Amino acid sequence: MILSIESSCDDSSIAITEIKTKKLIYHKKISQELEHSKYGGVVPELASRLHALALPAILEECSPWFSQLKAIAVTNEPGLSVTLIEGVVMAKALSITLNIPILPINHLKGHIYSLFIEKEAQFPLTVLLVSGGHTQLIEVTSHEAMETVATTMDDSYGESFDKVAKMMGLGYPGGPLIEKLALGGDSSRFAFTVPLWQSPLIAFSYSGLKNQVRLAVEASSSADYPNIASAFQKTATDHLIQKLKKYFKIHKPQRFAIVGGASANLYLRGEIEALLATYRAPLLLAPLEFCSDNAAMIGRAAMQEYARDNFVNYSHVNVNARCKL
Ligand code: KG4
Ligand code: ZN
Repeated sequence: MILSIESSCDDSSIAITEIKTKKLIYHKKISQELEHSKYGGVVPELASRLHALALPAILEECSPWFSQLKAIAVTNEPGLSVTLIEGVVMAKALSITLNIPILPINHLKGHIYSLFIEKEAQFPLTVLLVSGGHTQLIEVTSHEAMETVATTMDDSYGESFDKVAKMMGLGYPGGPLIEKLALGGDSSRFAFTVPLWQSPLIAFSYSGLKNQVRLAVEASSSADYPNIASAFQKTATDHLIQKLKKYFKIHKPQRFAIVGGASANLYLRGEIEALLATYRAPLLLAPLEFCSDNAAMIGRAAMQEYARDNFVNYSHVNVNARCKL
């Protein structure tokens, strides 16, 4: 079995996966959403201290499996350095105590493998990763060949939901709150410009839209917030769809997936499903509980690293906060 640890942002999570069967034996996650809610976003130092409390508490429940562990997998890149270090330090301590190696895992690869928990992977695959930290279009040919073909120039899709929710004083994380508020709104009541709509670039940008929303919020009463939320969600999603259409003109998708925390958004899922229907390409989605950060996806990605003997001695495992895929 492999024990996997995730602490790249505000979720403390540990999982145990059986190597032979890829079966998820144990999975637990403690989210810090409530603690960060009053600040309207993640406070890194607070997140770090909360991981230091939550991770050991979860780990205690895993002790019955310690003797069966062959490796410790841990997210070591990218993420918040002060929170990544909490998981990495725990992995090193376990590695020394149990005398087993470490499998360092890239968090973005982890999100891709959230699609294949307890399943065989299916490649080639075009992936839209929409999370709080990233908005990327990734071409996955194999475990080793993952290429980012488009990325955001500033904010990410999920982050823009967080910021809009903060403007309206709704709390954190903003994604589910804005999605819910938008259900009672009329998107035609506010006209926001779709980012980069005249640009030939296949790239994403959310800072301009965020500013348009800020001006609308400042000029409106709270009675208009559902309409603003609805128009914002539509424009943010139209932007993704428009750029995907541009990309698909050149590279027809064989198989498409949305991953990351914001892939739970039902409006986004519906729009992507409609777009893919024209290409007859299947849409792969992770179960809702594995869309946001979790250690089960890190454990699943670790299966691939284990098969390739990509073990690292504890003294060579470092945190890399800004790393890409
Ligand atoms: O993948 P994740 O848990 O963490 C990162 O790797 O960043 O994603 C968290 C992000 C947050 O920005 C959150 O607001 C967003 O995912 N999110 C959503 C929804 N649920 C979560 N965004 C839009 N609609 C949602 N339903
Ligand atoms: Zn994530």
